[in-house]
Amino acid sequence: MADKIRVAVVGCGGMGRHHVEVVQRLDGFAVAALCDVSAEALARMGDQYQVEARYQDCEVMLEEVKPDITAVVTQTRGHVGPAVAALRRGVSVLCEKPIAIDLAEADQMVEAARASGAKLAINQQNHLHPGITRALELVEEGLIGEVLLVRGRNKAGRRSGNEFMEMGTHVTDMMLRFGGPPQWCAGSVWVGDRLAGPQDIMEAKEMSPQDRDSGLVMGDRALGTYGFEGGVLGEIHFLDHEKTYNANYGVDVLGRQGQLAVRIVASGGHQLWHLPRPLEGAAGAGGDWQPVELPEAPEPMALMYRGLAAAAASGAEPPGSGVEGRWAFEMIMAIYQSHREGGRRVELPLADRRHPLEEWRAEARKS
Ligand SMILES: NC(=O)c1ccc[n+]([C@@H]2O[C@H](COP(=O)([O-])OP(=O)(O)OC[C@H]3O[C@@H](n4cnc5c(N)ncnc54)[C@H](O)[C@@H]3O)[C@@H](O)[C@H]2O)c1
Repeated sequence: MADKIRVAVVGCGGMGRHHVEVVQRLDGFAVAALCDVSAEALARMGDQYQVEARYQDCEVMLEEVKPDITAVVTQTRGHVGPAVAALRRGVSVLCEKPIAIDLAEADQMVEAARASGAKLAINQQNHLHPGITRALELVEEGLIGEVLLVRGRNKAGRRSGNEFMEMGTHVTDMMLRFGGPPQWCAGSVWVGDRLAGPQDIMEAKEMSPQDRDSGLVMGDRALGTYGFEGGVLGEIHFLDHEKTYNANYGVDVLGRQGQLAVRIVASGGHQLWHLPRPLEGAAGAGGDWQPVELPEAPEPMALMYRGLAAAAASGAEPPGSGVEGRWAFEMIMAIYQSHREGGRRVELPLADRRHPLEEWRAEARKS
């Protein structure tokens, strides 16, 4: 193991398992240790994947194992602790999404990486999806002309409140790939047929017990519009559809001369489409959408690990860096902030780094 990149995985639940499998398949990488506060989860995963070094305390693990990379795969509320502990010791981190519960925590993580020089990446792995990579190349080559609008498309199957914290940052991260850092956001959030109010703020698990414990949420449906540098616009909608629209998940890039559509569908399905004209027109007129062939590519999570290891060695920023992951999360938080301010455009980055819903609820309780 000495000549390999040694990865410690913190959090031995569903997604932790996936990290261990990806690392064990990856040439030049090895799982050096596992960590979980639950002895049962630790034993189950350690036995299944034959990892001997097992810890219930992340700080002890970091001191004894000294990994090259720590994967933080706890639920979102538990990201900041292990991530900052590793970054402060100079250990690079691949942290699960969304980066944190609020922007103040996200700032702490980004600052810990800046201060120590260790690298932080957020595992919004579609950052490196082959459809996104090829679409970026085609945009660069001028296939669709000047980019006018980037539209994020959600997976569906959840009320917007849960979708914000579960899948939302995957989508905003894909939007950022084409728009760059956003400059403003205007948003609105709805419950049934009315605008959401502070009485609708609740814990994620209250809204949906089968989803993760990811802090405060609000609303059934939501809209966000964005301005990116250079006049590129963005839009995202969460419409509380039934869970039948997985093929909806991805991003559309609308240019002056054509469109590209990336869809994160199961392998075998077409993942990138090109429309050789700018407007789709009437239903049924879109028969000239053309599938774009993609080269064989490693799984995106393997690329995230490779990208992070390369960045740690070179000093460059990794793909899906902490700063990008914070932007993806900030695009989601900004919808709440704008909604709370009556839907007006709010400038980004947000001046107030606290959770917009926490502030709103506290204010409403006082009055
Ligand atoms: N990138 C993706 O596509 C993707 C997919 C699924 C989940 N996720 C993310 O992965 C993360 C984990 O999700 P999950 O479904 O695996 O959660 P989970 O609840 O199944 O597992 C989390 C594990 O972390 C452990 N844990 C909690 N606090 C800890 C601490 N301080 N130190 C060590 N272990 C601790 C828990 O005991 C549990 O075993 C979430 O942030 C989620 O959003 C990402």
